Amino acid sequence: MNSSLQLPEFGYNIRPLFCLSPDIVNLNCGSFGCLPLIVQDEYISTFIKLEHNPDYFIRQIYRTEAADIRNTLNSFVGAEADCCVLVPNVAHGLHTVLRNLTWNSGDVVIMASTTYDIITRTVHSLRKAVPTPEIKQFQLFFPNSHANILLEFQECIRNSKSPSGKTVVIFDTIVSSPGVVLPWKKMVNICKAENVLSLVDAAHSIGHETGINLAEVSPDFWVSSCSKWLYVKRGCALLYVAPRNHSMIQQDLTPSMIIPDEKYSRFQAEFFWSGSTDVVTLMTVRPGEIMFGTSVRQQANIDRKEIALEFRQFLGGEQRIVNYCHSLAVQGGRRLAEILGTEIMCSTGEDPLELVGCMINVALPLPEGLMRAPDVLHNLDEGLLESKVYVLLFEHNSRYWIRASAQVFNQIEDFEKLGISLLRLCMNVK
Ligand SMILES: Cc1ncc(COP(=O)(O)O)c(C=O)c1O
Repeated sequence: MNSSLQLPEFGYNIRPLFCLSPDIVNLNCGSFGCLPLIVQDEYISTFIKLEHNPDYFIRQIYRTEAADIRNTLNSFVGAEADCCVLVPNVAHGLHTVLRNLTWNSGDVVIMASTTYDIITRTVHSLRKAVPTPEIKQFQLFFPNSHANILLEFQECIRNSKSPSGKTVVIFDTIVSSPGVVLPWKKMVNICKAENVLSLVDAAHSIGHETGINLAEVSPDFWVSSCSKWLYVKRGCALLYVAPRNHSMIQQDLTPSMIIPDEKYSRFQAEFFWSGSTDVVTLMTVRPGEIMFGTSVRQQANIDRKEIALEFRQFLGGEQRIVNYCHSLAVQGGRRLAEILGTEIMCSTGEDPLELVGCMINVALPLPEGLMRAPDVLHNLDEGLLESKVYVLLFEHNSRYWIRASAQVFNQIEDFEKLGISLLRLCMNVK
């Protein structure tokens, strides 16, 4: 936690601590993340140090640092010791699991209709595997409720699972579009009860939800991005494999060079070095040996080395960050809906906000007859990029929506600016 008693005020007050250009309204950190300046600074200075002596750095410093960082993240998500490895991105992590499983005829993969496009394509690439698992879909439409999703999820598994072989069920913790929170821990429990493997796409989880506690939930496989919400540079994700499944994961997608090092278990050594990559990225998770630039340190009023995870402590810790982002998502979404004359996507269950984490979905004021008109989303997207106010646009369940991500540097005014831009752009849609 921040050592000084005064915690920084969120909103525009701390915006200068992020790399964003001052003329940009970014309500889309859920896509590519937003880097704090301090993390960028640390990245650059570590990179310079690496280039001074690449052999020493990669063979000595990186080897130890990578193990420490992995252990730090392992604790961060409440996993059992030695159950996490670092991979370049979520798609890579999920693909690694799918390619390591032994497929037999009659095996089944179930995934949701809302599965992220790259992951869907990755699953379909299994069609080239021999024998090929059968691929089935769990239909997921919103608005919906957690209670109903759980019922339909269980029913789908019961109806679709392999009668004699293996079944792997892929589902999100937080869906990309719409940006909604799923009851993923209960979905893991259903998988256990139905005796099927859970492969959880937790791309949006780290830094977005608290109390992840993987040791207790114990999904079979779970992959999260560190760059979307955790303030780590792009190119770092965490793959968790439950202890009971380590023997199923024999190799990284490209097999690693094996190093004899007691800091690495057999499973972890398999993810050490699969060819040249940007090793500095993952070192932005936690403090390295390098001091970062004084200007940033002064701005953040940080008197010691603080990088991604420590920067989050400086901001007041996980709960404070998530509370701010969640309540801004709700308030901002409501304000935006008011401006657009539409509504936010609510749950149809008892708690209307159970689908909302730090992202909110708001309907666009467009007539239904426009559905699937090819250029609508493309033109709106270009218009938003030009107006320098960006959110994700998507079509779902016969309606056009936006997904806005709230971050600690956003304020309600960002949603108002977005509303004005969207109104203007929607009026021009024919
Ligand atoms: C739900 C979900 N899964 C997977 C991904 C892909 O993540 P990555 O770029 O780390 O592969 C994303 C990216 O936005 C996502 O939202």
